[in-house]
Amino acid sequence: MAVETDAMTHRYTEEDYTDWEHTGPGTLGGRYLRRFWQPVYVAKDLKPEWAAPIKIMSEQLTLYRGANGTPYLVGFNCAHRGTQLSIGWVEGDCIRCRYHGWMYDGTGQCVEAPLEEPSFPQKIKIKSYPVHEYLGLIFAYLGEGATPPLPRHPGLEQEGVIEASSFIRHCNYVQELENDSGHVPFTHPQNYGGLPPKGSFCLADVLPQHLISKETKWGLTRSTVTEVHHVTPNTHATGRAYRELKWMVPIDDESYVSLSTELTPLTEEWDKRREAKAEAEAKGYGRTNYDLIDSVLAGKVRLEDLDRQAPGYLINIQDGAVQIGQGRIRDKETGHLGRSDVFIVMLRKIKEREQRALAEGRPLKQWQSSAYPWPASSTWPGIPADPELDDYLHLPRPAKQPGTSAAKPPSEWQRALSRS
Ligand code: FES
Ligand SMILES: [Fe+2]
Repeated sequence: MAVETDAMTHRYTEEDYTDWEHTGPGTLGGRYLRRFWQPVYVAKDLKPEWAAPIKIMSEQLTLYRGANGTPYLVGFNCAHRGTQLSIGWVEGDCIRCRYHGWMYDGTGQCVEAPLEEPSFPQKIKIKSYPVHEYLGLIFAYLGEGATPPLPRHPGLEQEGVIEASSFIRHCNYVQELENDSGHVPFTHPQNYGGLPPKGSFCLADVLPQHLISKETKWGLTRSTVTEVHHVTPNTHATGRAYRELKWMVPIDDESYVSLSTELTPLTEEWDKRREAKAEAEAKGYGRTNYDLIDSVLAGKVRLEDLDRQAPGYLINIQDGAVQIGQGRIRDKETGHLGRSDVFIVMLRKIKEREQRALAEGRPLKQWQSSAYPWPASSTWPGIPADPELDDYLHLPRPAKQPGTSAAKPPSEWQRALSRS
């Protein structure tokens, strides 16, 4: 694990190149992740003149929204005697400390210290970061040097309903980042109708394109019932009749916040689906229940029994159990990757390559964060599929080798995937 120290003077080791789990200030993994805008909050959850304490990549900060609606991100503590700023109040575009009234603007500059000389405030400044509201989320840039433009995602700027949401999971963000396609029939057997009976899924049922992953302009792509694009460094783009972007953002090294934004079509069918979802959420379905996950991990409750109670709404419980069950941070020394883990192997190799380049001051790959194609769908006006994907998303079945027995007819599962 990297020692948290001054990033510019620290000499990193081989161990740091493969460490992206630790993301605190000064860690190599943290420096790499900070080179990208990260969502930090669901925009509608921050009302004007409200402040919220947040923790992102082990850094505690104060997010607040000015009276005119502009969000700002500044340091966590007041520079005077360290009171938590979020318990103060917002005045215009500034935030005032609750203890002795020092006030800071959105750049972190102290603009008032009522009990001090008038010239005093100008000497005081706390940290601040650029923020931007987009697609229902508040994004922040916590990186070194000049702030790059916030990447846009034209596929989500089209007509439809944008809904942003978030949940927290108590394990390292990489465990969700490496959440692969192969887990679906086992972890979520009740959520995807038509899957083979529990435990009957095996390598012979997998189409070749589902075991192939390739580096792309935006990161990597893997595919299951729908394609999932891994957008470097911590985003997934998925969907078919809807479009979803999901970021896994570390809170610290043992928990992360999943922030998503989803665009759904403006049709009667989707109006009904949105209503049903809102109703289910009001009843508490879909909410991550950590007591339940703890009970599953403690052997007091079986996932099979829960599956029957609220089928379709247990994804977070199921994913939470399998991910937190790996430990808060997975032990890299254990585990045996197989043929089906090609996506993970590639992901780790790319991360290592980029972190090594960062540590050595060499040029990094310039990712095109919105170059991924959305899956073709009759619902949306077409964004043409990227030909870069064609050579592996539509692979033919492997040719039969002479002398082997006749090819097995495709299973129901294979046929379902071929149609999707
Ligand atoms: S601690 Fe904030 S003004 Fe004194
Ligand atoms: Fe899952």
